[in-house]
Amino acid sequence: MSDTLSAVTTYDTIGASYSNARRPDPRIAARIHAALGNAATVINVGAGTGSYEPPQTLLAVEPSATMIAQRPTGSAPALQASAESIPIADDSADAVMAVLTVHHWADLEAGVRELRRIARQRIAIFTWDQDVSRKFWLLDEYLPEAAAFDEARAVAIDRLAGLLGGAHIGIVPIPHDCTDGFAAVYWRRPEAYLDPAVRAGMSNLALVGEKALHAGLARLSDDLVSGRWRERHADLLDRETLDVGYRLLIADL
Ligand SMILES: C[S@@+](CC[C@H](N)C(=O)[O-])C[C@H]1O[C@@H](n2cnc3c(N)ncnc32)[C@H](O)[C@@H]1O
Repeated sequence: MSDTLSAVTTYDTIGASYSNARRPDPRIAARIHAALGNAATVINVGAGTGSYEPPQTLLAVEPSATMIAQRPTGSAPALQASAESIPIADDSADAVMAVLTVHHWADLEAGVRELRRIARQRIAIFTWDQDVSRKFWLLDEYLPEAAAFDEARAVAIDRLAGLLGGAHIGIVPIPHDCTDGFAAVYWRRPEAYLDPAVRAGMSNLALVGEKALHAGLARLSDDLVSGRWRERHADLLDRETLDVGYRLLIADL
C-alpha cells in the first residue's frame, strides 16, 4: 500500500455492489480499446473491478480493496495504490488508461504526472465534460444537490488536456441501452433513477445521499406517472445515442 493511500477509501464504502451496477458496455469498450492504439502492454489506473481492461493489460492500479476483491478471476494483477503515487518504474507499459476515475483523485496534477511517467507512448482517459453534462435533465431539473456536487468535483477538460501536454478529445455518445450504469446512461430510461440499486452504482448520487435526493426523485416519479417527463423530453424518445458529455482524451507522449 502506498504512503498516500488511506486505509479505507471512498470506494471501500460505496463500491460493494459495483460489479452488479456497472457492467462494461461493448460499444464503449471498443472506443477505449481503439484509443489504446497498438499498445502491446497497458496499465489501468483507477481500475476498479476491471471494466474495459483489454487482454494486453499488465497491471491494474486501484486504491480500494473492496473494488480489487470484485475483479474477475484471471484478470490482470492489481496493485493497491493511488494514481498520485504509483510504486512502479518509469516507462512500465506502452499505454496507460484511466476510466471514469480522474474526478476522484485528490491531486490531479500529481496523478497525471504519474501516468506520464509510467506510460511509454500513450495515455487514454475517459471522463466527462461538465460544460455539457450540467445540462443533463436529471441533474438540471431534479437533483440540484447532485448537480452542485458534480460542479465541485468535475475535472475541466482543457485543464486535463493541458496536464497531458495536449490531447485529442473525442465525443463518446452514449447508446440508449448502454449496459454500464454510470451517471447519465439512463438518459432515455428515466424510471431507472428511481431504483436504489441503480443509484448505488453512481458515485454522485451515492455520495450525496438518499436524503438530499428524496424530493427530486419524488418529483421525477410524479412526472413519470403524469406523463410530464415524456412531454418535456419527447425529443429524446426516438434517439439511439446522446452526447451527455462523456469524452475520451488521447495523448501521445
Ligand atoms: C467510477 S470507478 C471506475 C472504475 C473503473 N475504471 C471502471 O471504469 O469501472 C472510480 C475508481 O477510481 C478509484 N479511485 C479513487 N481515487 C483514486 C486515486 N486517487 N487514484 C486511483 N484511483 C482512484 C476508485 O477507488 C474507483 O475504483
